[in-house]
Amino acid sequence: MLELPVISSPETSTPRPRSGARQVYIETYGCQMNLNDSEIVLGILHANGYGVAEHPEEADVILLNTCAVREHAEQRVLERLNHLKFYKRRKPELVIGILGCMAERLRSRLLNRKQLVELVVGPDEYRKLPQLLEQAFAGEQGIAVRLSRVETYDDIEPLRTEGISAWISIMRGCDKFCTFCIVPFTRGRERSRPLNSIVAEVQRLWARGFREVTLLGQNVNSYRDPTTGADFADLLAACAQSAPLMRIRYLTSHPRDMSDKLIDTMAAYPNICKYIHLPVQSGSNRILALMNRGYTVEQYLERIERIRSVMPNCALSTDIIAGFCTETEEDHQATLELLRTVRYDGAYMFKYSPREGTKAWKWGDDVPEEVKLRRLNEIIALQQQISYEINQQREIGQVHEVLVEGPSKRNPEQWQGRTDTNKMVIFPKHPSFGVGSLILVRITAATSATLFGEVVRGIDSPTAAEALPTATEP
Ligand code: SAH
Ligand code: SF4
Ligand code: F3S
Repeated sequence: MLELPVISSPETSTPRPRSGARQVYIETYGCQMNLNDSEIVLGILHANGYGVAEHPEEADVILLNTCAVREHAEQRVLERLNHLKFYKRRKPELVIGILGCMAERLRSRLLNRKQLVELVVGPDEYRKLPQLLEQAFAGEQGIAVRLSRVETYDDIEPLRTEGISAWISIMRGCDKFCTFCIVPFTRGRERSRPLNSIVAEVQRLWARGFREVTLLGQNVNSYRDPTTGADFADLLAACAQSAPLMRIRYLTSHPRDMSDKLIDTMAAYPNICKYIHLPVQSGSNRILALMNRGYTVEQYLERIERIRSVMPNCALSTDIIAGFCTETEEDHQATLELLRTVRYDGAYMFKYSPREGTKAWKWGDDVPEEVKLRRLNEIIALQQQISYEINQQREIGQVHEVLVEGPSKRNPEQWQGRTDTNKMVIFPKHPSFGVGSLILVRITAATSATLFGEVVRGIDSPTAAEALPTATEP
């Protein structure tokens, strides 16, 4: 069983499921919004008496919360269904359901898939889960895939696993309709939660011991409070003020709407992390226009310059698609050139995957697979080289504020945490600090993806830090 959250305020308190209650196991694919949606689903089911199973063999219900953004993401889910046959054979009354973007895209085509799937529920219909599950236990298949213009699950308390870092979805859907992207079709129209309710959630999370929140939306810059019209910069400022020691992050901003006001707000609050994920997708103006991204390379670079002039140490990352339809060698070279110009700290790089129903689907997939792969590998190699150089030249010797997350996955004797700029740091365990401590770490070595360092001192417990044997202040 998952440990239930420590509950400190009456509105978050939910009764523990009675023993013998049905157990649900959920597996999440795709983006951070899907992770938060799984917590919302568990919140709904927990309030209806379900327990949370940590392993599929303990479960009466197995839910896969899926992603449809690329073909590969869907393949993984279909392969996983093959494995789930094993559990169904052992326990025939087990109910298996598909949630999320793939459910929304494929709808009834998923029902009865491999004689396993009895439930298909899209991202805006999770409130119906308890009722649909009752029906499924009675032997009836269920499907609910209507998209909503208003659903934000604003009143649902997500059932979060114990930890220090929490996701908060501040809006749902996307209206941008980039020509390659399935998200507007699987997630529906853009809609935002009220500012006050988000700020109250940040405060509750602080009181429960969380030390970092990430505000989530496909395009957070489009956030608008439904009644006051407050924008995303207003929301960030309100969150930062409401919990001045809480680290505030956000994902994802669209370059078209990266306003001066937002950049200035980030700079004004020390607890808003200096890290921006700003997906560019391509370095060719012709391809950007075909993608309907709404900016040129020049306009994008102007935003980067503005960010760097206001926050010189702000880290930047991006998303790149290699081999979009009609992409020429020249377009590809322009993308490499853009990477050299911006010098991102990191990037998520993908091969173009045509999605049925999008505008680009009709234009075909004319870049041969081997060419796409070669271009993707060139992009990855260049970006890795740049990340490595940045870490070697700029990071070694720097002292960063790091939030301690826990033991390192590779070596439990070491600890791991993230810098304000969202870089992973590994450092020796220290008796004075625990999970959730904010400490200063001096960087002593680095690869392209990870920094290594030594503890300098604590930030939130300066007295303990004075006695530190490893302190290496000059
Ligand atoms: N809302 C976010 C991105 C959501 S999808 C934004 O606009 O930035 C995350 C990333 O997946 C995208 O930035 C894009 O790089 C990639 N992606 C989306 N659709 C894709 C497709 N059909 N093929 C390959 N990559 C895709
Ligand atoms: Fe997809 Fe574009 Fe919306 Fe991002 S902004 S989710 S890439 S349509
Ligand atoms: Fe995937 Fe849906 Fe997120 S398509 S990336 S899970 S919004």
